[in-house]
Amino acid sequence: MKLEGATITWLGHASFLVKSAANKYIVMDPWLQGNPKCPVEYENLDQADVILISHGHFDHMGSAVELAKKTGAPVVSNFEIGGYLATKGVENTMGMNKGGTVAFGDIKITMVHADHSSGIAAEDGGTIYGGEAGGFVVTLENGLTVYHAGDTNVFSDMNIIRELYAPDIALLPIGGHFTMSPKEAAYAVKLLKPEMVIPMHYGTFDALTGTPEALQDLLEGEPVEVMALQPGVQCQ
Ligand code: NI
Ligand code: MN
Repeated sequence: MKLEGATITWLGHASFLVKSAANKYIVMDPWLQGNPKCPVEYENLDQADVILISHGHFDHMGSAVELAKKTGAPVVSNFEIGGYLATKGVENTMGMNKGGTVAFGDIKITMVHADHSSGIAAEDGGTIYGGEAGGFVVTLENGLTVYHAGDTNVFSDMNIIRELYAPDIALLPIGGHFTMSPKEAAYAVKLLKPEMVIPMHYGTFDALTGTPEALQDLLEGEPVEVMALQPGVQCQ
């Protein structure tokens, strides 16, 4: 499928850079330094127009504070994570919640449900309440709709996501253990009916054993393209 001027670059794990056709940089779940799968040329990313955080786990917002401070880009997250990031010196937070939509020009970002947890690791070893885990539906200026599922199991309200937003591209975790494995992700694809699915959240740690090949096998004959991106290689 063609992205009509937009590009998607996987930065490893759940981190993505979506560049819109109007060259807006949307950075999703930035975990750059310390992410074993982040390409070295992106470890010091210093460009973002908006930063999205799906939930409070370190592997989804490990680089959020640094990237927000470098770029001044607004950070879109749930309300609780927004409050947490503010205590870390992030000035431009946009705390929201599920069902809400924020707009940046003609780009629309809607927070949707995810079936996962969201505690933030505290420096003293405890856990800070991080609200609920979510996902994002991003509709670009050219109408292309990208769903970043965050970390999640499959859930039947993915039907609602399809009916309301009809994502063209779904970024889905497949590694298992903390999220869906290919078995659940294949079911999610049948609910969401995207044109393209980009697997993520696999291979980073030994526990994340799901593979794009396994997902592809389970989707044999389904009208969907499984696009196994290499980190750093732009999909356009
Ligand atoms: Ni998580
Ligand atoms: Mn995760």
